[in-house]
Amino acid sequence: MADMAGLAWRLSRMAGGHRLQFSGGHVEILPMEQDDLGPVVQLTRKLMEPLLRTGFGFHWDLRLERAMMADLMRQPVALVIRRESAFIGYTALNPARPQAKLHALMIEPAHQSQGIGTAVLRLLEQRAAGLRCREIVTTVQPNNKQALEFFRARGYADAGADGVNALLHKSLIARADDV
Ligand SMILES: CC(C)(COP(=O)(O)OP(=O)(O)OC[C@H]1O[C@@H](n2cnc3c(N)ncnc32)[C@H](O)[C@@H]1OP(=O)(O)O)[C@@H](O)C(=O)NCCC(=O)NCCS
Repeated sequence: MADMAGLAWRLSRMAGGHRLQFSGGHVEILPMEQDDLGPVVQLTRKLMEPLLRTGFGFHWDLRLERAMMADLMRQPVALVIRRESAFIGYTALNPARPQAKLHALMIEPAHQSQGIGTAVLRLLEQRAAGLRCREIVTTVQPNNKQALEFFRARGYADAGADGVNALLHKSLIARADDV
């Protein structure tokens, strides 16, 4: 547990206030603070509610929202993405060894398809590899075609199912030298 906290601390510090270049400019990556929770909940609802409803027939309610946020808060690393100071997304990672888990990567629709998700994912993979994680996994709802294509196009391979979700994984071993 102490080891995990140490990893989280290092990753958060490395990413804290990090200026991240992407093809269309730059964003700031900062540790998630209490004040970020409102925008985080709103964005999660905006992006996930239609997928949960059409995929599983779930209706968004306070109980579901609390469960999702509690799950998010359990992740050792939770970071917000800001562009010109405005909140435009967040990500959460459990940099466990040997297998890191990307818990979430959410970008505001108005800022999607500009290369930000790719740049954030690359940063997380590099940091996880630097923390000697050998592999990174993530789960995606089977009806989330956009995210499935996004991860597959970035080297993630299908690795079966995790409950009702698709499990994807990518080896980080080749990256360990270039961080
Ligand atoms: C999946 C997600 C995180 C991707 O983020 P994003 O910022 O849109 O990702 P990018 O812009 O880097 O890449 C998306 C597409 O934009 C295009 N793109 C990348 N850079 C671009 C640029 N400079 N100009 C125009 N288009 C570009 C790419 O073609 C890419 O398409 P591809 O996957 O076919 O290669 C985002 O769509 C999202 O938040 N989805 C909803 C939440 C979700 O499902 N999250 C994943 C599970 S937690």
